[in-house]
Amino acid sequence: MPIAQLVLKACQARENAHAPFSNFRVGAALMGGDGAIYTGCNIESSSLGLTICAERVALSKAISEGEKIFHAIAIASSTRKKCMPCGACRQMLWDLAGNIDVILIENDQPVQQIKLMDLLPQAFERSDLPE
Ligand code: THU
Repeated sequence: MPIAQLVLKACQARENAHAPFSNFRVGAALMGGDGAIYTGCNIESSSLGLTICAERVALSKAISEGEKIFHAIAIASSTRKKCMPCGACRQMLWDLAGNIDVILIENDQPVQQIKLMDLLPQAFERSDLPE
């Protein structure tokens, strides 16, 4: 998998972040089937709870484009330090993208690669719901 390309796309996506309230800009790049890459940035609202994270923007774009296969997501923040995905994003990624690789970035370089399952152990999921 071309990790370097995914990392670059996440860093580029961060530039589009709309984060006037936190001033914490995040970019994400999600790799789907056939090497397709879907990018996202965080988008903040004056009604703060409506804010959406970069990871869920990328995931929403991929799902809305009809993507069904997912391999990895790279995440970059403006502090240049490692940015772990929040709990809401872990759950949504688990539900829709499965046990993908999560690539964490520091100073625009990959510093850690971890399976989503290891970030969300014993996850709640669809199979827990009634038929
Ligand atoms: N944020 C993300 O976009 N992704 C994360 O993994 C953590 C948090 C955003 C949401 C909000 O715009 C800002 O970072 C501060 O929480």
